[in-house]
Amino acid sequence: MKAGILFVITALGVIFLIKNGEGIKCWVCRSDSDPRCVDPFDNTTIPIFDCDTVKLDHYPNVKASMCRKIRQKVYGNWRFIRSCAFLGTPGEGTGNENYCTMRTGTYNVFMETCTCNSKDGCNTASSNHHLSYFAAFLLPILLMFRIRLFG
Ligand SMILES: *[C@@H]1O[C@H](CO)[C@@H](O)[C@H](O)[C@H]1NC(C)=O
Repeated sequence: MKAGILFVITALGVIFLIKNGEGIKCWVCRSDSDPRCVDPFDNTTIPIFDCDTVKLDHYPNVKASMCRKIRQKVYGNWRFIRSCAFLGTPGEGTGNENYCTMRTGTYNVFMETCTCNSKDGCNTASSNHHLSYFAAFLLPILLMFRIRLFG
């Protein structure tokens, strides 16, 4: 029974997470090696990157269809990482790509992840709205299973 539930959740996860799409161009940089990557981002300082030119090692047919921006606070320092995204969903499952996931880890690590695909180079903006991935996406699924199982 447990194995069955795990399988369904995994299958759903794969369907949602791996998205075959058209090519997209994104900003690709890391602020720890390139200070131009920080917010506020000036899109005239770095050339845009064509995500079709990179592939996942084990999934050569999966194209990056989204852009991602990660904002991390590590030991008190902000770090920005912009990249092409293969996995995930724009808006982290909410349908609104202004939403970002936020995670607070141990050792004073904070991480915000924003995923978008509305247009080339969409991973520039600072977001104003936040919603956790768990609340927006996983929780309803878990509740659904809970109702089926124990209701
Ligand atoms: C850079 O930003 C400006 C203003 O937001 C926008 O009009 C322009 O299209 C952007 N350039 C690229 C290459 O995305």
